[in-house]
Amino acid sequence: MEAAEAVTAVPARAMLEQCGLLPSPPAGSVVLDNACGAGVVTACLFKANNSDSKCLTVICGDLDPTMVDMTRQRIKINDWNAQAERIDAQAVIYEDSLYACSDEFRSSAHA
Ligand SMILES: C[S@@+](CC[C@H](N)C(=O)[O-])C[C@H]1O[C@@H](n2cnc3c(N)ncnc32)[C@H](O)[C@@H]1O
Repeated sequence: MEAAEAVTAVPARAMLEQCGLLPSPPAGSVVLDNACGAGVVTACLFKANNSDSKCLTVICGDLDPTMVDMTRQRIKINDWNAQAERIDAQAVIYEDSLYACSDEFRSSAHA
């Protein structure tokens, strides 16, 4: 987990800053962490939002059930206001209007 975080947390934070979700996510933000892997992007968000994590909702999606399970465990251990589901990034079931930002392999953000 630490190894994954060391590699991807730096670009993850830069992306989240560009999306306006860091240094602190606006209250009520709903974020789709698309292709979430081990949940590094989600961890960056909740670590920045320690004071009131209930003001942030994250949906973590990954195609690989092992990654979904791993992220689900992290969510439970850290009591994040998030859920992990098996979601194909190329066939997202949620409307764009639901969320403020989609990780989506770091290539796009929805305002
Ligand atoms: C580099 S890893 C994790 C990236 C993660 N966002 C991060 O910053 O650490 C890429 C992830 O994409 C997932 N993936 C690949 N194709 C996918 C797809 N079509 N839909 C959802 N997840 C996918 C893989 O299972 C893997 O967990």
